[in-house]
Amino acid sequence: MCGIIGYAGTKNAHGVLIDGLKALEYRGYDSSGLAVFTQGKINTVKAQGKIKNLEALLKEDIGTCGIAHTRWATHGEANVVNAHPHTIGMVTLVHNGIIENADELRQTYQQKGIIFVSNTDTETAAALLNDFVSQGMNKIDACLRAGKYLKGSYALAILFADEPETIYAMRKDSPLILGLSDDGNYVASDVSAFLKATNKILELEEHEVVRLTRSQVEIFNQQGKAERDWHTSCRELSGLDKNGFDSYLLKEIHEQPLAIKRTLAAYMNESFDDFETLMPDLTTVDFIYFVACGSACHAGMLAKHWFEKLAHIRCACECASEFRYGNPPLDQNTLVVLISQSGETADTLAALRMCRKKGIKTVAIVNVEGSSIAKEADVYLPTLAGIEVSVATTKAYTCQVAVLTLFCIHAAIQRHQLPIKDQKQLLADLNRLPALMADLIRNDTISQFADQIGDAHNVFFIGRGLDYAQSLEGSLKLKEISYIHSEAYAAGELKHGTISLIEAGTPVLALISDAALAAKTFSNMAEVKARGAKLLLVIREDLYQHQTGMDTHLKLPKVHPLLQGIISIIPYQLLAYHLAKRHGCDLDQPRNLAKSVTVE
Ligand code: F6R
Repeated sequence: MCGIIGYAGTKNAHGVLIDGLKALEYRGYDSSGLAVFTQGKINTVKAQGKIKNLEALLKEDIGTCGIAHTRWATHGEANVVNAHPHTIGMVTLVHNGIIENADELRQTYQQKGIIFVSNTDTETAAALLNDFVSQGMNKIDACLRAGKYLKGSYALAILFADEPETIYAMRKDSPLILGLSDDGNYVASDVSAFLKATNKILELEEHEVVRLTRSQVEIFNQQGKAERDWHTSCRELSGLDKNGFDSYLLKEIHEQPLAIKRTLAAYMNESFDDFETLMPDLTTVDFIYFVACGSACHAGMLAKHWFEKLAHIRCACECASEFRYGNPPLDQNTLVVLISQSGETADTLAALRMCRKKGIKTVAIVNVEGSSIAKEADVYLPTLAGIEVSVATTKAYTCQVAVLTLFCIHAAIQRHQLPIKDQKQLLADLNRLPALMADLIRNDTISQFADQIGDAHNVFFIGRGLDYAQSLEGSLKLKEISYIHSEAYAAGELKHGTISLIEAGTPVLALISDAALAAKTFSNMAEVKARGAKLLLVIREDLYQHQTGMDTHLKLPKVHPLLQGIISIIPYQLLAYHLAKRHGCDLDQPRNLAKSVTVE
């Protein structure tokens, strides 16, 4: 949450910083601001709302060194006063993260006569640094010392008024990436902020401080100067174009066949033999926790289902914010699998660190290479979805499900639970998967579902087993993008209370992709139909039976049951898209959200 960028170089800083902020806007869009050295003086501009509002306020400026910020509000309303950068004395800075001891610091400095103008926690970091440099401390020492006082998480990019054309930056528990180019040097929350200029990068480590000018980048830690190697980012620039689609959301939905193909190709060729070297050894594992947040947690629920059913390993799936405080029983035979698109989600990262501290084996399934979760886990299994810009995840989610499926196949083979006949069927279906996904994305029936739902204020999703997990994901997509309230229920659970909400015309979406559970879900559909529900059905093609009273249906292609979960979410993603569009919602940046949730 929140995105920051700093640039020191030869190009116009306004242009570079605005371009960078636009690439970071997915991290928050409540307000934005920048500060640039112009003829030795710091010039700050801030605006409420999206970056285009900030852009509209900018006057011509010749500065070539500055910092900028796009905000997802945590402390203090989303207004101009609370927008970053914040200045106290000599220090102007932008911040991503949360300073947990802000109240304490605020009190201390108020007693020393400092006047705070905003309600943000960030201003207290500026006060602290200003205090240290005012005492005559050199800037690097001041930053390192501030790192010892600040509690919580921070990525800070800092300008000191008496040192023009220089940026200092420091981090703890929030990411910071450095970029090196002939036209100048960059520091940002994410490589996408400067990828157009350079792919030569370096991830700043925890507690490190960097001093950056147009010609030099120096890194320091408590031991002194740190020598670090630069490397080439494998992120693609193409992800940053909409390619003619009306939104990143729709573009990313359409990219799924390719993303799945690329992800599968990274793990296997014509057999599952490569798994031996790529996947972790599970022979001694007797319990697996899947831990994640939001959609990634729904991917974990699908995985729990398959690992238990196919590989016969006991599993649990928990959202990271509960897992880390729940004191879960963990021992040497437990494996914890963390799932995350961004690789920076605060609760998931904290859960990973908790496990590492206890000596528990960890596997990370992450889309962003070089992110904290990818780097810190014992084993990193990448998803190759490419850059996902839209705040609502689509292609990264299906790629998570794909990697978890491969991981489960590996576990089943290692435990001699997957007969050769099944393996052959799986291989054949994995090859067909991208084409089947592309057909499903082109199928326009789902827009009829959107017609049927129209202006409904409440929608229900029901399903059993895997279809319940997908219903949760479908419901989340609908809520977050179209702002229509929805709930997902295990189909058999509705009658234990919630069915009282079903009345004439309430849309109920049922998902049926598992033959063993189809008859039961059909009965649950009949129960809601009898109470006047408008019934919309997504069903595996071979399980379809003509039902009187069904309002609309869409057929899913039949693949090996283990792979069904990679495709069955697609209609629900498209449904959320169609309804959001009809309701005039922002497809890529839904209100109140941000893509990378680096606060707890
Ligand atoms: C929903 C969505 C979120 C994320 C969640 C975890 O569309 O994108 O629910 O899945 O915030 O984020 P990552 O996967 O980056 O850890």
